[in-house]
Amino acid sequence: MKIPKTLEPLVQDGLIDAVIRPLKSGKEAAVYVVQSEGVIRCAKVYKEVNKRGFHHQVLYREGRTVRNSRQARAMAKGTRYGRQEQEQVWQNAEVTALYQLTAIGVRVPQPYHFIDGVLLMELIIDAEGEVAPRLSDLDLTPEQARSYHHQLIQEVINMLCNGMIHGDLSEFNVLIDAQGPVIIDLPQVIDAAANNHAAQFLARDVTHLATYFGQFAPELHTTNYAQELWHLYQNGDLTPTTQLTGHYKKQQHSADLDSILREINDARDEALRRAQLRENH
Ligand SMILES: Nc1ncnc2c1ncn2[C@@H]1O[C@H](COP(=O)(O)OP(=O)(O)O)[C@@H](O)[C@H]1O
Ligand SMILES: [Mg+2]
Repeated sequence: MKIPKTLEPLVQDGLIDAVIRPLKSGKEAAVYVVQSEGVIRCAKVYKEVNKRGFHHQVLYREGRTVRNSRQARAMAKGTRYGRQEQEQVWQNAEVTALYQLTAIGVRVPQPYHFIDGVLLMELIIDAEGEVAPRLSDLDLTPEQARSYHHQLIQEVINMLCNGMIHGDLSEFNVLIDAQGPVIIDLPQVIDAAANNHAAQFLARDVTHLATYFGQFAPELHTTNYAQELWHLYQNGDLTPTTQLTGHYKKQQHSADLDSILREINDARDEALRRAQLRENH
């Protein structure tokens, strides 16, 4: 197909050999199937690049991904290698998240390059080699729904253990390949420790999953993983192997605390009463 203007620089750089077809075009991004470095990949082109926001992020993240002085020198000189390295440092939040998540084994597309507002990443394919369907496009058996839900909750745990909340998790941002769910679309990723609304974002993500999978396995409607997850996370007790019940009840804990406080107060009153009795004798 004719090469879209946004992909031309990557073609000139030799990062894209051919543009095969458009995959999806939405408000946020246009996604293409491309041939890149000899393999089939996908290219996500961000539509609204907010330059100021981007540069702010650049400053914020500077230093973090500069690996060594050779890289820093190359970046300063602006050589081709330097520019390439610079691109890696100036990744946007989605690229950074994808690198971090692939590193800790969360199932997301492997990112390869982020250049000129274009993210080159692994094309997720199904068992037949076709582009993997979105979760929203599938009819599920109750067993599949339970299994995918379980796998996605585990990914939410893994992400949270690494300080990240997806922030827009839904059946539209999960692809299903031969091994199960693959999470995509992460530019809005939430910093769990720094964002004041992190608990709400987590609750929304987890509720989306329960609501969607609940259509196929109704018992999932009554699960409550979000509060349990957040409680464990805040107390520093969440690990990738934590077994959740899915039925966290806050009242139970405050009731426990209340009864302990009552015991303490009762014991103190009793001690005071005895002391007074002794004084009066
Ligand atoms: N790595 C990928 N492999 C296969 N399909 C993808 C991949 N990334 C995105 N897509 C497809 O492109 C669509 C849009 O991508 P997404 O990252 O969700 O951007 P947005 O929803 O912001 O436009 C997805 O719903 C999916 O159908
Ligand atoms: Mg999306």
